[in-house]
Amino acid sequence: MGIFDESKQKRKQLIKNRNILQTTYIPDQLPHRENEIRNIVEIITPSLYKNKPSNILVTGKTGTGKTAVLNYIGKELKKEDPKEENCSFIYVNCEIVDNPYGILFNISNQIIIDQNRIPPTGWSLDRVYDTMISYIDKENKVFIIVLDEIDRILQKNGDDIFYFLTTMNEILKQSKISIIGVTNNAKFTELLSTKIKSRLGEEKVIFSPYNAEQLQNILRGRAELAFDTEIIGDGVISRCAAISAQDSGDARKALDLLRVSAEIAERNGDTSVTEAHVIAARNKIEIDAVIEVIRTITVQSKIVLRSIIELHEKKDIITTGNVYSIYKENCDILSANLLKEKRVADLISELDMLGIIHARVKSFGRNGRTREIELNINKDIIDFVKKDELFEPLQKHKSKKQTTLWKEQEDNKKV
Ligand SMILES: Nc1ncnc2c1ncn2[C@@H]1O[C@H](COP(=O)(O)OP(=O)(O)OP(=O)(O)O)[C@@H](O)[C@H]1O
Ligand SMILES: [Mg+2]
Repeated sequence: MGIFDESKQKRKQLIKNRNILQTTYIPDQLPHRENEIRNIVEIITPSLYKNKPSNILVTGKTGTGKTAVLNYIGKELKKEDPKEENCSFIYVNCEIVDNPYGILFNISNQIIIDQNRIPPTGWSLDRVYDTMISYIDKENKVFIIVLDEIDRILQKNGDDIFYFLTTMNEILKQSKISIIGVTNNAKFTELLSTKIKSRLGEEKVIFSPYNAEQLQNILRGRAELAFDTEIIGDGVISRCAAISAQDSGDARKALDLLRVSAEIAERNGDTSVTEAHVIAARNKIEIDAVIEVIRTITVQSKIVLRSIIELHEKKDIITTGNVYSIYKENCDILSANLLKEKRVADLISELDMLGIIHARVKSFGRNGRTREIELNINKDIIDFVKKDELFEPLQKHKSKKQTTLWKEQEDNKKV
């Protein structure tokens, strides 16, 4: 018998078309974004007559359909002008290419199809720029360039590239370009210089978070394609929608919740997805997200967190001072570098900012102030931290200490 047999036998295939529940899937219909779509379409329609549309800045929280809407509009635009005689739609995800060279390389190589393509590295930015301009100008049409996750470029490289792209029309003689910047960072425009702010944001389109009812419709549309109707129990869709609406109105989270619920049901060998699976899925997603964060913290922060956990398990009051004493002991056992108390206090603040703990400043009258700390993670995550192989020596040491203590107590009894 193979090692997969038991799991294969138990497992029921509930998801008919897995692809549809992936967040990369672009649906043909985007309910509740009709206004945003109409708005953008009205702004860019001149491109079908070779006229330059205004630049647009699209903003809205994560999971509100910005990327899906722009991809959809791109597809529809292509249907209107299949040979791309009047306009071309160019999409760049700046999360993947976040430096000026990468952005220009990516845009250019969607335009240049002959052997003169720009190499991925090695040219000066000026050369890339000039080549790009000459190719754009050969065509005599409008290029709509979507820069999705546009804030990523700014964070790493400043706003020169925007200056460069938004002033390109002053150099072009035949063609025109028009930029659609997309971001979920509400502070993005504050970080731009005034000139670029007004150029990029000639038009603004805002995507608001979905409410529970809208999320229900979105989920229902996807579920109909992904499952046979009888598979999804009563209340599953509305439960997923309610949870996600309360959280952030994020359609991506709602879809993830539905997908993970179905996967849990499949793994259990259940024949349908129920609200209980949704609750389990929500826990799993929450735990996975926190674990992902904990994986990225430094060894020193992990030792601090481990020390807080120890105090928590002893049901002691947790203050910066208490944490430091245990931290010192632990560093000793683990032969780790010992940081000063002030540095450890900083690491405690970082854990607080990550939401792993809550630290409240408490005043003790004339005796000064200290921080009282509470753990903000559940048992499963505590176990995950304790199981880190980094803490193996600690585990051995503490269980030895426990046995010695216990033996001493027994010996005392005998006396
Ligand atoms: N109105 C909608 N109808 C159907 N599916 C939608 C709708 N809005 C969003 N989605 C789906 O939700 C997921 C997230 O949407 P999308 O990636 O477009 O969000 P976003 O606004 O670009 O988020 P981010 O700011 O994180 O990039 C995608 O799978 C998308 O297909
Ligand atoms: Mg997006």
